[in-house]
Amino acid sequence: MSNQIRLPIILFFLVQLGLISAADRKNLYHDCSNATTFSRNSTYQSNLNFFLSSLVSNATRSNGFSNGFYNATAGQDPNKVYGLFLCRADVSPTTCRDCVNFATSDALKLCPVQKDTVIWYEECLFRYSNVSIFSTMDPSPMILLYNVNNVTEPARFKQLLGNTMNEAATQAADSSKRFATRKENFTTFEKLYCLVQCTPDLSSLECNSCLQQSFGGLPSDKKGGRIFSPSCYSRFELYPFYNDTATAAPPPPPPPTPVLSPPPPVSVASPEGKSGISSPIIIAIIAPTVVAVVLFIAGYCLLIRRARKKNSPPPEDNAGNDVITTIESLQFDLGTIEVATKKFSTDNKLGEGGFGEVYKGILPNGQAIAVKRLSSSSGQGAEEFKNEVVLVAKLQHRNLVRLLGFCLEGEEKILVYEFVTNKSLDYFLYDSERQVEFDWSKRYKIIGGIARGILYLHEDSRLRIIHRDLKASNILLDEDMNAKISDFGMARIVGVDQSQVNTNRIVGTFGYMPPEYAMHGQFSVKSDVYSFGVLILEIITGKKNSDFYQTDGAEDLVSYAWKHWRDGTPLQLLDSTLTESYSRNEVIRCIHMGLLCVQEDPADRPTMATIVLMLNSYSVTLPAPQQPAFFLGSRTEASMATNEFDFDQSKSKSIPCSVDDASITEVYPR
Ligand SMILES: *[C@@H]1O[C@H](CO)[C@@H](O)[C@H](O)[C@H]1NC(C)=O
Ligand SMILES: *[C@@H]1O[C@H](CO)[C@@H](O)[C@H](O)[C@H]1NC(C)=O
Ligand SMILES: *[C@@H]1O[C@H](CO)[C@@H](O)[C@H](O)[C@H]1NC(C)=O
Ligand SMILES: *[C@@H]1O[C@H](CO)[C@@H](O)[C@H](O)[C@H]1NC(C)=O
Ligand SMILES: *[C@@H]1O[C@H](CO)[C@@H](O)[C@H](O)[C@H]1NC(C)=O
Ligand SMILES: *[C@@H]1O[C@H](CO)[C@@H](O)[C@H](O)[C@H]1NC(C)=O
Repeated sequence: MSNQIRLPIILFFLVQLGLISAADRKNLYHDCSNATTFSRNSTYQSNLNFFLSSLVSNATRSNGFSNGFYNATAGQDPNKVYGLFLCRADVSPTTCRDCVNFATSDALKLCPVQKDTVIWYEECLFRYSNVSIFSTMDPSPMILLYNVNNVTEPARFKQLLGNTMNEAATQAADSSKRFATRKENFTTFEKLYCLVQCTPDLSSLECNSCLQQSFGGLPSDKKGGRIFSPSCYSRFELYPFYNDTATAAPPPPPPPTPVLSPPPPVSVASPEGKSGISSPIIIAIIAPTVVAVVLFIAGYCLLIRRARKKNSPPPEDNAGNDVITTIESLQFDLGTIEVATKKFSTDNKLGEGGFGEVYKGILPNGQAIAVKRLSSSSGQGAEEFKNEVVLVAKLQHRNLVRLLGFCLEGEEKILVYEFVTNKSLDYFLYDSERQVEFDWSKRYKIIGGIARGILYLHEDSRLRIIHRDLKASNILLDEDMNAKISDFGMARIVGVDQSQVNTNRIVGTFGYMPPEYAMHGQFSVKSDVYSFGVLILEIITGKKNSDFYQTDGAEDLVSYAWKHWRDGTPLQLLDSTLTESYSRNEVIRCIHMGLLCVQEDPADRPTMATIVLMLNSYSVTLPAPQQPAFFLGSRTEASMATNEFDFDQSKSKSIPCSVDDASITEVYPR
């Protein structure tokens, strides 16, 4: 544990937050629910006592501390205790042992009667439960700690952080320890250090998925941040906080070894008060502005948190940050919105979506917003509407357009979003002039961004959101051409329910809808996967699925793509403006993924977690795609009666399936 001297004010602040236990080793956070408690002198109690007392010696015998991970059980069902610990992979076995040893004595002080307990320390995670927690991904709760200081070039930093974290996640998912560190130059004086780790009992896929979810919550404009959940941990800082020598060397050539404790020219704000900043120049600017430490659970983390409640006092109550989402903080009054949009003037109109008109507005503080005026009453009550907005507003991810609030007055139902500067994907994709600047690297980045955004919607443990209307015009682009998905959660907000789908109206856009949805109104996360596949194909071809007229016999984009794939000419699909500077591998892999996503049987389509993994790692072998579903029918937009769709099965039978289980390079040797 750090022997650094902390600034008294920081220490005080942490005590105020109730985060420092009386002992010298403090837990960063603990999560134990009153929902499952045991009574004193129960069998569970005695099993737990036995577990806590024998864990350290058993783990020592089984090399648990050298491995940094150990799982064990005590007692018999129904009072069995399942427990594990995970040490940060760069700490020594001795430190690991000390941390776990401390945890076993600390646990009953923090969580005296709770069966289900997770405690995080600087160097280890300690966890037990009355249900099996082994080999299961549990991404919630996610706890966020961050450095209050802002980075100097947020846009560039965000990009660097995103890329570095993704690389680290891929590397960790591929490693047996499920651990990786990366460092990259940020400025002349600052390097970005990243560390990610999962419990090694997770599969590669689960590990990647857990990490990807956590990245959505990392603050990308801060000098440091970390997110920990019961199954994974990710952290970045602008100083070396991990021990490089102890870790398996990451692929990039490791520059000189940083030390574990940050060099302290000045110790400044970080959750536990020890964020060193190595450049004296930067310190000179920052030191005076540093007040204290902020620790909180991001609003979005609250959302992810399970129904079970924490025992520890919620830090956000004290930290006074603006991420906490409540109805009050989200409510705009109509007057403000009318001023912002010049009374919904036509000059300010940005467009019209499926659920209403969208206007640009400027708030009195200068912030640009996009205002969506919902067209029809949804039959949903005001309270219900508010509650749904609050839930959806808590979904925060860099690849989702942020919902800032709502307005509900009289007949008006209005949603207020952040304004995204660069219009939508279709604006670039289908315009011959703009297409030219829309090079492959931009397109590839957008594909990755969309994938991560959907993954977040799908895998969020509390609100599993199926978008149901993914299409190019719903993908907005920010100033750095990062994809931001819009209109997510609309089904919840406007109360479109399943019964509506099953009667006669289908929410969605023809061409992006999978056959099972268009024909039978069945939707699942795999429906979004289908739409995502169509989007990939559109991004690659620069052709719009909905008005696709090919002369050579294929009647829609999906069949056109399949045809070229089957014939071994996938690169001919590529937008003709992309003649140079593209990565052949990336393009072919994307087409391959696109075709996997539009397969007829939803069960054959990969999950978004798999897709994100495929995008990040070339070591993942893609299965051969099955022939996609084809349809014929009118190519008009929006809500249509189910029986208007005609799924032409004779057509799909007539096309021979000749691509076998070969890897992509074999399919297309050129
Ligand atoms: C765990 O404990 C809870 C509450 O005490 C109980 O409802 C649940 O059935 C237990 N689970 C198992 C697997 O024993
Ligand atoms: C520790 O080892 C002993 C002897 O092998 C075993 O009986 C006990 O259940 C183990 N305890 C734990 C928590 O693994
Ligand atoms: C540890 O977890 C694995 C599953 O991940 C399980 O097979 C094994 O039995 C567990 N070990 C103990 C001692 O319970
Ligand atoms: C960081 O930036 C935000 C707004 O972008 C500002 O409110 C905050 O005060 C800044 N923090 C520091 C420590 O300068
Ligand atoms: C990072 O900067 C150092 C010098 O500060 C330089 O030696 C190194 O090559 C740079 N690394 C990269 C990846 O650019
Ligand atoms: C859990 O129960 C204990 C004892 O009844 C109580 O002191 C504590 O406030 C409860 N915690 C929560 C989060 O409800």
